[in-house]
Amino acid sequence: MFERVPSAPPDPILGLSAAFAADDRSHKISLGVGEYRDASGKTPVLDVVRAAEARLLAAGSSKTYLPIDGTPAYGRLVRELVFGQDRADSADTVTVQTPGGTGALRVAADFIANHFPDARIWLPDPTWANHPKIFEAARVPCLSYRYYNSEAKGLDAPGMLEALQQTEKGDVVLLHACCHNPSGVDLDADTWQAAGKLLADRGALALVDFAYQGFGDGLEQDAAGLRLFCEQVPEMFVATSYSKNFGLYQDRVGALTVVTGSADRAETVLSQLKICVRTSFSNPPAHGSALVTCILSDEGLRADWLAELTQMRERINGMRQTLVEGLQRHGASQDFSFITRQKGMFSFSGLDPKQVERLREEHAVYIVGSGRINVAGVTPDNVDALCRAVVSVL
Ligand SMILES: Cc1ncc(COP(=O)(O)O)c(C=O)c1O
Repeated sequence: MFERVPSAPPDPILGLSAAFAADDRSHKISLGVGEYRDASGKTPVLDVVRAAEARLLAAGSSKTYLPIDGTPAYGRLVRELVFGQDRADSADTVTVQTPGGTGALRVAADFIANHFPDARIWLPDPTWANHPKIFEAARVPCLSYRYYNSEAKGLDAPGMLEALQQTEKGDVVLLHACCHNPSGVDLDADTWQAAGKLLADRGALALVDFAYQGFGDGLEQDAAGLRLFCEQVPEMFVATSYSKNFGLYQDRVGALTVVTGSADRAETVLSQLKICVRTSFSNPPAHGSALVTCILSDEGLRADWLAELTQMRERINGMRQTLVEGLQRHGASQDFSFITRQKGMFSFSGLDPKQVERLREEHAVYIVGSGRINVAGVTPDNVDALCRAVVSVL
């Protein structure tokens, strides 16, 4: 049987990590996969995570299965971070704990395929490379809507709103809550509001992907657009990931939250979400969610986490500035100041696939084929070599 199976291409992002690991040039620079790096180029375990791990170890908890939808305490904390204290206990909203944000998106995709078989999902152009694959895997047809204005290196709000006029009743529209991957270009408050009104008018359902809360302008600030939007629409999905903001990449911590519009519907929707979970991963992994619950439920640990999150955000923003200055100093004739206006980990550099290939072949600089740079991989030690390499391929 296996003889007939064709081989698949490597993943465009995680495949880069394998190529980087196999490169024996000592000056190599990895700006591919979306992991935070500190000034020494390491992806640290946050101090607050170590402290929470020590507490969990001392408490000596058991390794029994979690409930299918995860623990109620974790679900409530997820809703509190997304919607704020006031809406954390809304009876019309339910949360299931998932393995990372990817798990949340896949549960949403399975739910859509099971219950809205005619729905299509609209993805921004560009979007995270895994988005279309997740929905295609669940047999949900994908369409794209205009999002990024490559001339202005900013949001194409009129183009986006015009494209979303093409949505049909029952379609689903994916929006990035903040720190858009790969462009770093976010919706402004007016566009959030206009998009909410438009989707409500057309009877389309939003799925907001929230993978970088706290990496843009701050924990609350990054949720502001989504909260405005939420006032316009009666129902929505929110996919949460704590991979980046807690640095828990390998612990697979995430959640899918559904605003259903009524307490009765919430119960029914939850019963169906549990079927999706039970038939794909049965019940969620416990360690990462126990850490998040421990940190967010303790005033001191929560304050420590916020301080570390702020540190990560400020380091990235500092590197954006250093990168722009470095490119200028090394003789770039283009204006790269747009890099400082982009939010989160990524920058859409504008480099084309040929230039990306030359960076890799000639300079051992690894970035994603779309020209996406993980700014969190830029450090005071590699920024000069990086700027020299980029300017040489421009
Ligand atoms: C936009 C976006 N959504 C979701 C995810 C998934 O994150 P996780 O690793 O928690 O599955 C990522 C990760 O890179 C992402 O960039």
